[in-house]
Amino acid sequence: MNSLQHVAIIMDGNGRWGIKRKKSRNFGHKAGLKTVEKIIKISIKNKIKYLTLFAFSTENWKRPKNEIKFLFKLLDTFINKKIVEFKKNNIRLKIIGDINNFNHKLKKKLTDSEKITLKNKKLQVNLALNYGSKYELVRAFKLLNKKKFKVNIKNIEKNLYSSGIPDPEILIRTGNTHRLSNFLLWQLAYTEIFFEKKLWPDFNEKDYSQILNKYKKTKRNFGNI
Ligand code: FPP
Repeated sequence: MNSLQHVAIIMDGNGRWGIKRKKSRNFGHKAGLKTVEKIIKISIKNKIKYLTLFAFSTENWKRPKNEIKFLFKLLDTFINKKIVEFKKNNIRLKIIGDINNFNHKLKKKLTDSEKITLKNKKLQVNLALNYGSKYELVRAFKLLNKKKFKVNIKNIEKNLYSSGIPDPEILIRTGNTHRLSNFLLWQLAYTEIFFEKKLWPDFNEKDYSQILNKYKKTKRNFGNI
């Protein structure tokens, strides 16, 4: 059976979920946050060590202002509510992405939360915020150039946001859309990809377990036969 340490998720379909219920896209995002909380719990139950969640991309700034504002409010609520729980339950929070342009208060809250949970070992939640894979790669090359380091696989990996984190064995994208949307392009080189028809707020423990079980039985050959 395949070992499993790291699951990455593109949590797609919140907007459609809200509209389908004759409510707003933001209503869907609120429901999506509940699924985030559930999936964190189930990941711990399944002894997963790293869970990477795509919460806001470098391209999401193109969305209407009210939706962006709402997503940031949800993020703030999530941190306020969860950080004590993360601390207590041995969960580490790590931000991947560029949060330098976030408002000062939120940025401080996020970096403080990272510091408070730094030594936690049960599960590491990597929250991708203002994250874009192409930018992450350009940033890594620039860092190498600045440090006058050789461009090679090891050095590139050391300068990604994901430095020190094993590549995901599984990527899940909900919402019945089959694309990577500039997410972890380097890290997903040999990842098993699962496209899920359900919209993110509907994704549940059974769906997650089915994917984990299917993955465990998949023959992974990494270019070998
Ligand atoms: C994609 O669905 C989802 C997002 C861009 C945001 C994800 C946010 C959450 C799950 C809630 C907040 C989470 C945290 C951790 C604070 P979409 O809006 O593109 O859906 P659509 O494809 O139906 O339009």
